[in-house]
Amino acid sequence: MSIGLQHVGIRFRAGVEALRDVTLEIGRGEFVAVVGPSGCGKSTLLSAIANLLDPADCEVVGGILVDGAAPGTKSRRELNLGYVFQRDALLPWQTIEQNVQLGLVIRGVEPGVRRERSRAMLDMAGLTGFERYYPHQVSGGMRQRAALMRTLAYDPQVILMDEPFGALDAQNRMLLQSELLRIWQASPRTILFVTHDLAEAIVLAQRVVVLSRRPGAVKAVYDIALPYPRDAFALRGSAEFGRLETTIWQALRDEFRATLPDAVVA
Ligand SMILES: Nc1ncnc2c1ncn2[C@@H]1O[C@H](COP(=O)(O)OP(=O)(O)OP(=O)(O)O)[C@@H](O)[C@H]1O
Ligand SMILES: [Mg+2]
Repeated sequence: MSIGLQHVGIRFRAGVEALRDVTLEIGRGEFVAVVGPSGCGKSTLLSAIANLLDPADCEVVGGILVDGAAPGTKSRRELNLGYVFQRDALLPWQTIEQNVQLGLVIRGVEPGVRRERSRAMLDMAGLTGFERYYPHQVSGGMRQRAALMRTLAYDPQVILMDEPFGALDAQNRMLLQSELLRIWQASPRTILFVTHDLAEAIVLAQRVVVLSRRPGAVKAVYDIALPYPRDAFALRGSAEFGRLETTIWQALRDEFRATLPDAVVA
């Protein structure tokens, strides 16, 4: 499934213009990362693609197509779209295992298959042994891993990810980046991945989109010509990675500069 954004602008009625004139084509099976300063509209963009914005709250202009289908249409409702929210958004009254199975329950997958699938996902996320715990009984990082696995469990063809590894420590972050790379390389699906971590964006994605400060607009798009399969650990030491990081940071730095006092961003 592809994602097509044409001249998308979003203005919240409370007064904030979040995005302006965003045009971006994401091909079927493509992995694209979006970086940009806090408050530039990254989460808003994902919500718009998933058709989760409340029209009473904001005005949306431009075209937002997923697999060629406009929001609210029947073909759009039938799409298998996954969303990993910036906050983990687990159901507090369900166990970790039930949470991971949620998408499968909604899709009517039978209990045996569901259990097998969620066990495999929990194992992958290092959550084996915590199946019967409730979200408040595990750490923030564990909740985030469970939320990621809940989405991957039902195998969506488009996955919107909003800083899915934000609450993880550096080591777990790299492990899950490797895991996500492995899953995507084995069966490419369309991924739009929002992160504040430039290194993460470069390690994972085929293209990195830099959004400007609010109202977020596409400032630059970089092709990441690093071959797959990629090794999330080894890549960080390579000369090409360093070159890309330096180049993209130059574009990004100016946008951060404008949102922070001079002394903070050297
Ligand atoms: N429901 C809403 N009503 C009014 N304003 C909103 C709403 N949601 C977001 N905004 C505003 O839109 C702007 C963009 O917010 P958004 O959450 O998309 O930023 P972001 O790029 O995801 O930031 P961060 O990196 O901190 O998560 C912000 O100024 C925010 O205050
Ligand atoms: Mg956000």
